[in-house]
Amino acid sequence: AETHYHEFVVQATPVKRLCRIHNRITVNGQYPGPTLEVRDGDTLAIKVMNSARYNVTIHWHGIRQIGTPWADGPEYVTQCPIQPGATYTYKFTIENQDGTLWWHAHSRWLRATVFGALIIYPKLGTSYPFAQPQLDIPILLGEWWNRDPIDVVRQATFTGAAPNISDAYTINGQPGDLYRCSSKDTVNFFVNSGDTVLLRIINAALNQQLFFTVANHRLTVVGADAAYTKPFSTRTLMLGPGQTTDVLFTADQTPGRYYVAARAYASAPNAPFDNTTATAVLEYKSAPCISNKGFLSKPTLPRLPAYNDSATATAFTTHFRSPSNVKVPTQIDENLFFTVGFGFFNCNPGPQCQGPNNTRFAASMNNVSFVLPRTTSLLQAYYQGIPSVFTTDFPAVPPIKFDYTGNVSRTLWQPNSGTKLYKMKFGSKVQIVLQDTAIFSVEDHPMHLHGYSFYVVGQGFGNFNPKRDSAKFNLVDPPKRNTIDVPVGGWAVIRFVADNPGVWLMHCHIDAHLTWGLAMAFAVENGAGELQSIDPPPEDLPPC
Ligand code: C2O
Repeated sequence: AETHYHEFVVQATPVKRLCRIHNRITVNGQYPGPTLEVRDGDTLAIKVMNSARYNVTIHWHGIRQIGTPWADGPEYVTQCPIQPGATYTYKFTIENQDGTLWWHAHSRWLRATVFGALIIYPKLGTSYPFAQPQLDIPILLGEWWNRDPIDVVRQATFTGAAPNISDAYTINGQPGDLYRCSSKDTVNFFVNSGDTVLLRIINAALNQQLFFTVANHRLTVVGADAAYTKPFSTRTLMLGPGQTTDVLFTADQTPGRYYVAARAYASAPNAPFDNTTATAVLEYKSAPCISNKGFLSKPTLPRLPAYNDSATATAFTTHFRSPSNVKVPTQIDENLFFTVGFGFFNCNPGPQCQGPNNTRFAASMNNVSFVLPRTTSLLQAYYQGIPSVFTTDFPAVPPIKFDYTGNVSRTLWQPNSGTKLYKMKFGSKVQIVLQDTAIFSVEDHPMHLHGYSFYVVGQGFGNFNPKRDSAKFNLVDPPKRNTIDVPVGGWAVIRFVADNPGVWLMHCHIDAHLTWGLAMAFAVENGAGELQSIDPPPEDLPPC
């Protein structure tokens, strides 16, 4: 195994998109940021220098961080932010993960432009469980704002209203031909006829679930969230923010130009969304490049599902299976039931109260709207025994039972805010039912757990029914994920063994929802039954 050293300079960079030059925060002046390539078992050491005027942290999305919780990255959870002018080196080892992950800023909405791919190749001397592709292409789907995303979230936080929708989607940083002033920068991928191509698709968008497709080509899914899957064939993918999917296809169509396209899957009825389409071009090297009119031949546009096609989205997300039988925990020690959804805070009518009916938007899990500490990180507070930073009374089940996906009474709309952790013994076998609520509106929630991959043993619509639904759990070959799409007005059930000590955030990967408090954190003790005896923090851990 190797150790790879990298330097990330976080800096303001002029970026031209949609006809104008904007200053955006990037890593090393690149948008998207640099691609990291490693093999399973390798170690990464990334020195992050903050040359921007914002605080920043970087998170290595999906990396388990076994024994290295100080390197996970979420601001005020495992570290204080890296302040302007400061440096922090993230060092961690990849253990038993193959495929595609990514990295992103975990500090307000900086990840809008601060993200990149993290590719994990099989261990030296081993190979993919599928044909070696001739081409390997990371595809980062993103969301672009003409306004500085930090201002977008600042305004939403100040007014208590929903944040503005984005101005474009992007593929590897470019919106593509269907947007103003963007054609000449459209991303092109060149293939030879007959090539086997591996696409590593990452949904790095801030707030939008996305459909993705390649015109005329049938795609075979082979992996997701850095775990292989049983191969299955599809025309369209749907990825929630945070999720990755690896697909193979053969360049077996008439030599020509074909669009690769992404646009919204908007699951919430009536909520505004950006309805534009990002494109890149898949071009056969042997394609006739001049049409009879003297122009480059127009690429073929693919068909994409309707924006609200939750049937297609759900059919896709429930199709994943592990390649072979896996060991799913059966005797459960921690049986948790978490509601995920919206809420409102009452407030006095005024400029800071622009949510629906003179309220401020909120979101919660089990009626707790999560608040980050501001003076230290949760992990440091735990490790050093700093009092009154958090409490450990996050509820294992909702405080009141109600018809979660039915007509929800207004008295349930107001969550409590708090910094509450749920404490778990090392080695506990955990099951979590994640239940969407209809408070204000139903919506998909791509729920991400830090420090773990988990098995998705079941998914469905409506209220989770323990008797009926647990009888149908897949305990044989459920998929291994780090981000699970809780279907609109439905539920998902995950299982894992709490074998990685640390403080681990679980949250909706839609940043608007995270900003409103759709998060909680687990404190997983170590073998000695405490967190005080995990490895001490690295010396350069940023102070608050
Ligand atoms: Cu990809 Cu907490 O994030």
